[in-house]
Amino acid sequence: MFKKVPAALAAGLLTLVLTACGGGDAGAGGGSDRITLGFSQVGAESGWRTANTKSVQEAAKEAGIDLKFSDAQQKQENQIKAIRSFIQQKVDAIAFSPVVESGWDTVLKEVKDAGIPVILTDRAVDSADTSLYRTFIGSDFVIEGQKSGEWLVKEYEGKSGPVNIVELQGTTGSAPANDRKKGFGDAIAADPKFKIIASQTGDFTRAKGKEVMEAFLKAHKDIDVLFAHNDDMGLGAIEAIEGAGLKPGTDIKIITIDAVKDGMQALADGKINFIAECSPLLGPQLMDLVKKAVKGEQIPQRVLTEETTFTPEQAKAALPDRKY
Ligand code: AHR
Repeated sequence: MFKKVPAALAAGLLTLVLTACGGGDAGAGGGSDRITLGFSQVGAESGWRTANTKSVQEAAKEAGIDLKFSDAQQKQENQIKAIRSFIQQKVDAIAFSPVVESGWDTVLKEVKDAGIPVILTDRAVDSADTSLYRTFIGSDFVIEGQKSGEWLVKEYEGKSGPVNIVELQGTTGSAPANDRKKGFGDAIAADPKFKIIASQTGDFTRAKGKEVMEAFLKAHKDIDVLFAHNDDMGLGAIEAIEGAGLKPGTDIKIITIDAVKDGMQALADGKINFIAECSPLLGPQLMDLVKKAVKGEQIPQRVLTEETTFTPEQAKAALPDRKY
């Protein structure tokens, strides 16, 4: 049954409806020349991810692009659902950071058939058909792992072994977990004194990093080095190491990847020994690529992010200006 709406409330409702209709009705059949971008994010598993989401949202706003943002909560099925919903909404472009590398061909073919350009950001897919996406912007994760391994080799130069290493891997099946493992493994392979005595996923989260490190510490009394595939897992592991009465960075040397502020602070404090940077600030470049892809302009198949590495001294110098 309808109820009479008071005049003041009715006026308020009308304003709301008009505002909703009037604001940036976007490419998705709205008739405006604003671009609508559907973006499927991995989740909110780490400090890196939070910084990446912020970068994408701020850059979209800055570029005048209407962003439809969807958080997959680290689940591939959620990303596939989001992508299909973007197709139905007739967005102008789709960007996503794939949780895992495999299993994308079917949905990417659907996007291609709908004539919507796809841009991979941060993480790659292993599809053999590279025409399923226009470009991939992000880091070289193999190099990040390799730089981490090379630091370790130098650190133990001329020292006798064994050097017992435990590894906290990122999300199983994800490009950064696969590639960082490979790069690190390749870098230490030439010297048999380096031994990875345990390797398990910590899903890129601080909580899981702590939990798995506690298990490593119970199972192994002779850990020399921890290689964590991101800062957050390393920070969780530091709590476990301290909880076991050991000194992180001294009793157990720690290498991580990302260089987010919390990680850099732990590095400056001597609790982490080395960090290979992975930049989350992909937003501005992503928006440029989206604009070009929508206009049908030529874009490179691969856009590589520039990155560096940090020792404790370098972290101390970089921290005051660190943006994330
Ligand atoms: O894909 C990038 C990785 O994902 C970052 O290194 C990690 O922190 C994040 O969860």
